[in-house]
Amino acid sequence: MKRQSLKVAQRGKIAPFFAMEMLQAANQLAATGDDILHLEVGEPGFGAPVSVINVAKTTLDHTILGYTEALGMPELRARISRHYKEYYDVEVPSDRVVTTFGASGAFLLAFLAAFDVGDKIAVVQPGYPAYRNILTALGLQVIPLCAGPKQRFQPSVDLLQEVGPINGLIIASPSNPTGTMLSKAELKKLVSWCKNKRVRLISDEIYHGISYGNSPATAASFDDQVIVINSFSKYFAMTGWRLGWMIVPHDLAPSVERLAQNLFVSPASLPQHAALTALDCRKELDTYVEIYARNRAYLLNHLPSIGFERLAPADGAFYLYADVSGLTSDSKRFCQKMLEETGVATTPGIDFDTRLGHRYMRFSFAGAEQTVVEAVKRLNNWRR
Ligand SMILES: Cc1ncc(COP(=O)(O)O)c(C=O)c1O
Repeated sequence: MKRQSLKVAQRGKIAPFFAMEMLQAANQLAATGDDILHLEVGEPGFGAPVSVINVAKTTLDHTILGYTEALGMPELRARISRHYKEYYDVEVPSDRVVTTFGASGAFLLAFLAAFDVGDKIAVVQPGYPAYRNILTALGLQVIPLCAGPKQRFQPSVDLLQEVGPINGLIIASPSNPTGTMLSKAELKKLVSWCKNKRVRLISDEIYHGISYGNSPATAASFDDQVIVINSFSKYFAMTGWRLGWMIVPHDLAPSVERLAQNLFVSPASLPQHAALTALDCRKELDTYVEIYARNRAYLLNHLPSIGFERLAPADGAFYLYADVSGLTSDSKRFCQKMLEETGVATTPGIDFDTRLGHRYMRFSFAGAEQTVVEAVKRLNNWRR
C-alpha cells in the first residue's frame, strides 16, 4: 500500500544557508584528501581565549550546572551592563540585558516579542540571510531595501522613504557580507527616523570590536526603544559556545522573558560562566583583530591584481564582498568551480542578496594568515 505523506508546513520551506552548503561541500572534498582553505564560513579560526577555557574546565569540576534564570545569570547581565558603560559610555541597566542562544536565539525572541504575523520588516540587501529566513518562517513580511555600492550597502532615510509603511527595520554595522559601517551621524539619523515613524529598530552589533578605523557607535546610545543584539561568537571568538545577548526596551522585557522561559527555559549555563571571563579578555582578543587586519590588508593588496577588483570597503567584520560580474554571471557555479579546482572555499552572493547575489561572492578572512596567503597563491595560478 502506498504511504500517504503527511503535511509539511510551509514555514520551514525557507532558503538554505549556502555558506553552510559550501562548508559541507568543502568538508566532503577534505575527507577525500583535498587540502581545503576555508574562506567561506564567518568564524574566528583561533578559539576562545585561554582563560575562558580554563574557567570552563574549573566550572565543570566544581559547579553543578543547572538551569539559570530564563534571562541569564544576574552577574553576567550586570557584567554586560558594565561593558556598555566601559566600552561605549552608555548606561544600560542590567534589567534590560537578556542573554540568549547566540545572536540567532536573540533574533527569534526579538522578532516574536516585537512583531505580529503580517508585520512588515525592512531588511537591507545584501544582508545576513537568517534575518530574511527567520522573518519568513514566522509569517512576517520581508521588505527588501536594495543598497548598492553607492549607498555603501547600508540603509538610509532616502531608501526607507521609498518602501512605504513598515513596522520594523533591521540594521547591521559592520555588516555581513560587506563589512561596511554606518557613521555615528548616519546611525543617529536612522534611529531618529524610526523613533518618529514609530518603527521598531533592531540593531545587530555582532561585529563590534572588529573594525579597522573608527569604532562603531551602539544604537543603544541614541534611544532606549531600540533592540540591540550582540554575541560572544565573533569578537570573543566563541562561535560554538552559542551565547549572545540583547538589550531590550523596558516595555518589551516582560514579553521577552515569557518567550525565553517557554522557548528555552534558560540559555546554556557553562557558556554563561565562561562569558563572564571573556568580557575581561580584550587584550588577547585584540591580537585576533590584529590578525584580521593583516589578512584584510593582504587581500586588499593582492585580490585586485588577480581579477577581483571591485571590493566593498570593509570597515569592519572579517569579510570582503567582491563584485565578480566581470568574471561570471553565476557566482554560485563560479564558487563551486573555484572550490573544486583550487580548494579555496568561498560563499556565493546569493546567500545575501536574492536579486543581485549572482554577481557577488564573499571572502571570509577570519582564519590564519597562512590560509589567506595560500588562497591568493592558488587563485593567482587558477585558469578559470
Ligand atoms: C550579522 C550576523 N548576525 C548574527 C549571526 C549569528 O550569530 P550567532 O553565532 O551569535 O548566533 C551572524 C553569524 O554569522 C552574523 O553574521
